[in-house]
Amino acid sequence: MLQLVEQYGANRRIVELGCGDGSLARRVVHVPHTSYLGIDVADRATATASEINDPRYSFRTCSMQNWHPDGAFDLLIMEECLYYLGAKAQDALLERAFAAMAPGGVAIFSVRDAEKQKLTLDRIRRQGPIVQECGETYRKYLVVARE
Ligand SMILES: C[S@@+](CC[C@H](N)C(=O)[O-])C[C@H]1O[C@@H](n2cnc3c(N)ncnc32)[C@H](O)[C@@H]1O
Repeated sequence: MLQLVEQYGANRRIVELGCGDGSLARRVVHVPHTSYLGIDVADRATATASEINDPRYSFRTCSMQNWHPDGAFDLLIMEECLYYLGAKAQDALLERAFAAMAPGGVAIFSVRDAEKQKLTLDRIRRQGPIVQECGETYRKYLVVARE
C-alpha cells in the first residue's frame, strides 16, 4: 500500500476511509500529498491518528456509511474496510465516493482475502477502469480510475 500511495499520492488530496489509528497516514508523510483526511468510526483510533503533527492531516470520527464528501479529493484509499459494510451500503458509498472524486482521480482498495471478499471486489471492479492490480493469492490491491 505504501508503494501505491507513493506512486499515486503526489500532489493529491487524499481521503482514507477506515483509517484506523493512522498507521498508513504516518507512513506516507514523506509523500508530497496536498492534504490527508482520515475517517474512522472508532474515536480512540482517530484520537491516536490526530497525534500526527503535520498541518496537511486531519481526522474525523464518523461511519463511512454516513460520510458525505464535503470537499474535493483526488485519491481515495480504503484498506481492509469496505467489507465491513453490507452490500447495499457498499454500493451507496462507492457511488457517492466516485461521484465526488475529482477528474483524473483514483481509488486504491485492498482486501486481505480475495476469495472471501469476492463480491466486494466485483463491486469495486464495476466502478471504473482498473489501472493496476497487484498482490498475492489472497491479498489484493486494486487501483480504480474515475470514469
Ligand atoms: C481491519 S481495520 C483496517 C485499518 C486500516 N485501514 C489498516 O489497514 O490498517 C478496519 C478499520 O475500519 C474501521 N471501520 C469499521 N467499520 C467502519 C465504518 N462503518 N466506518 C468507518 N470506519 C469503520 C475500524 O474501526 C477499523 O479501524
